[in-house]
Amino acid sequence: MNRTIQPAGALRGEIMIPGDKSISHRSVMFGALSEGITEASHFLMSADCLSTISCFEKMGIRVDVDRQSDTVTVHGLGLHSLKEPDELLYTGNSGTTTRLISGILAGQSFDSVLSGDESLCSRPMNRVIRPLTQMGASIVSEQGNGCCPLHISGRNLHGIDYISPVASAQVKSCILLAGLYAQGETSVTESALSRNHTELMLSGFGAQVKSEKTAGGWKASILPEPKLTGQKISVPGDISSAAYFIAAALIVPGSEVLIRNVGINPTRAGILEVAKAMGGDIKLQNVTSQGGETAADLLVRSSSLHGTVIEGELIPTLIDELPVCAVMAAYAEGRTVIKDAAELKVKESDRISAMTAALSAMGCDITATEDGMIIEGGRPLHGASVDSCKDHRIAMSMAVAALPADTETQIGDADCVDISYPEFYSDLFSLMH
Ligand code: S3P
Repeated sequence: MNRTIQPAGALRGEIMIPGDKSISHRSVMFGALSEGITEASHFLMSADCLSTISCFEKMGIRVDVDRQSDTVTVHGLGLHSLKEPDELLYTGNSGTTTRLISGILAGQSFDSVLSGDESLCSRPMNRVIRPLTQMGASIVSEQGNGCCPLHISGRNLHGIDYISPVASAQVKSCILLAGLYAQGETSVTESALSRNHTELMLSGFGAQVKSEKTAGGWKASILPEPKLTGQKISVPGDISSAAYFIAAALIVPGSEVLIRNVGINPTRAGILEVAKAMGGDIKLQNVTSQGGETAADLLVRSSSLHGTVIEGELIPTLIDELPVCAVMAAYAEGRTVIKDAAELKVKESDRISAMTAALSAMGCDITATEDGMIIEGGRPLHGASVDSCKDHRIAMSMAVAALPADTETQIGDADCVDISYPEFYSDLFSLMH
């Protein structure tokens, strides 16, 4: 399905962002491995999180989904309670489901097969196959290309000290989850700190997890065989979803938008630093904290933005927001350079080429580089027909780019927003008057 986005006047009003995708996935996974009930409220009812639920249901876990109240109740039976699935575990478009579950499956006493949609089946899985194999797991990529389908035979695992070549929370989490079943301690060291929801949440469920900065980088370690206990989790709003409204309010003249209850965990909040560095007017209000996760309301007013450099340790803290950062850069005066972000090429699409093609079609001066993009901002953009590459974050970023343009923009396969934010268009339109 295509969508037409009309140029918009000032955006005004309040918006409540749906629950955080990373925390929603993890509440189901960790709840399934715990004893007792885990209740996650403000759960993100999107296609990706439903893929996670379906996988655990296939392994015998009861999950009650109440769409009226956005609450999910997981009836956990303990670390060793999963049953052998009698069909393939289908993970859809979700890299998080695939990579995190592979760590859990590696330590089970049964065999399983993991696969997903076309995009998922082109994403690199060697990054988890390699460390899990070092821990003693048996994982075979069916096509021999390091991608899904993956055939996983559960084995007795042993702990390793893994130096991760990428700063990736999916890789880190996969290894820590396998570490729950391994003999001895397991650790993962990464050069820059990726999102730490796994460390915070697993420790809240009762695991012994340690995080420290060492000479070699950021190290997370875990001890095996904890007794995990079900938790009540109030999922904060997803800053990755809030990012579209932050950007839209900043670039559409005359806008003022209050974005309620947004998770601002520092390992996720790089977008706020970038917006500030570009001259954006964002005020934090009503800061609260639960289970180590901080949330706040964000009051965002339109601002004259200027270019900046986005690089280094900041990258993992806004990896999913880089497409919409490119949109802010297109409307900012001067040059913005995004570098150290080669990971963008192996997300749901190649986000460097997807954003370069889509913003170029609107008249933006943008150049793809090996590890990012260079944007010469400040030119007026015009409406165009753009390809989302069936990637939810490209579709939402381009919907934002379309708002200050002079004519309407058509977004191809625009319904892919269902992956992380099914209500995106209606929430966006609710701010237009
Ligand atoms: C996620 C980690 C990130 C992010 C993804 C969700 C997670 O991937 O892009 O959308 O929940 O752990 P990487 O850590 O592999 O970069």
